[in-house]
Amino acid sequence: ASTLGAAAAEKGRYFGAAVAANHLGESQYATVLDREFNSVTPENEMKWDTIEASRGSFNFGPADQIVNHAQGRGMKIRGHTLVWHSQLPGWVSNLQTATDVRNAMNSHINGVMAHYRGKIHSWDVVNEAFQDGSSGARRSSVFQQRIGNSFIEEAFRTARAADPAAKLCYNDYNIDDANAAKTRAVYNMVQDFKSRGVPIDCVGLQSHFNSQSPVPGNYQQNIAQFAALGVDVQITELDIEGSGTAQANSYRSVVNACLAVSRCTGITVWGIPDHYSWRASGTPLLFDRNYNKKPAYDAVLAAL
Ligand code: XIL
Repeated sequence: ASTLGAAAAEKGRYFGAAVAANHLGESQYATVLDREFNSVTPENEMKWDTIEASRGSFNFGPADQIVNHAQGRGMKIRGHTLVWHSQLPGWVSNLQTATDVRNAMNSHINGVMAHYRGKIHSWDVVNEAFQDGSSGARRSSVFQQRIGNSFIEEAFRTARAADPAAKLCYNDYNIDDANAAKTRAVYNMVQDFKSRGVPIDCVGLQSHFNSQSPVPGNYQQNIAQFAALGVDVQITELDIEGSGTAQANSYRSVVNACLAVSRCTGITVWGIPDHYSWRASGTPLLFDRNYNKKPAYDAVLAAL
C-alpha cells in the first residue's frame, strides 16, 4: 500500500492523526489528512473547556466539524477526552463537594457520549490521572481531591452505560517504559479493574518522545504486558523530537513494536505537519512544514 492508512489497514490496524478543526479548510492539510490517515482524534475540540465551558451548556460545533469530515470519508474517530485535570473549566475546578463533582463528571460523560453515540470507536475516558516520578501515586485534581481514587472506575462505569459500543481507554504519558513506577501503577489499576469487572477495554500510550525520554528498549514488552491483562493497546499521541535517520529509526521501532503485539490495534500521530505540532519549535511529526514526507514517514510506511 502507498499510504499510512491503507498500509495499516492491511495489518488490521488504523493509522490516525490528531486534527484541529480550524485547519480543515486548508487545502494542503485536508489533502494529506484525507490521503494518508484512516482515523482522527480531535486535538482539543472534545476537551471539557471547549465542549462544556459552562455547566450544562454543550458546544459540540468544533468537534462536530471534525466528526463530520471523518465520517464523510469513512475514517474512524477517537474521542479525546472525558475526564482530565487540564483544559478543565473553572466551574468544575471550583466545585466543593464530592456529590457535586460526581454529578458534574457523570453529566459531562453522559452528555458528550450521548451526542456521539455510535460514532466513536474508542474514548479516552480518563486522561493522565497518575503522577510522574517514583511514587506511583494519583495526580492531584478536583476529581481526585473531592471523590478520591474511585473517580476513575466511576467514570468508566458511567461511560460504558452511555455508549456500550465504544471501547473505553485509560490514556497517559510516561507509561511507555515497562519498569517505570508510573507504568506499574497504571498496570496495577488495569489489572484490578479487570479482576473486579470494572469496564475497561484499552490502554492508550500517548508516546511523546524526545531526547530526555526516548523510545524505551522494553516498549514492545510493555505493550505486550498491558495486552496480556486482556485490554487492547493503542498508541494515541505519537510524536518523536528529532530529524533525519535517528528520528526515522525511532518511528520505525514504535511501529514494529505495535505490529508485534496483536492487541496493539492502532497508532495515532499527534499532528500532521511539523509547524502545527504542540511542540512549538520542534519537528516531531511525519511531514515538514511544506507537507513533504520526511524520512520518518518513509520508515513508518515501510514498517507497516
Ligand atoms: C495538547 C494540544 O496538542 C495542544 O494544542 C493544547 O494546547 C494542549 O493539549 N496530552 C494530551 C493532549 O492528552 O490532549 C495534549 O494535547 C498533549 C498532551
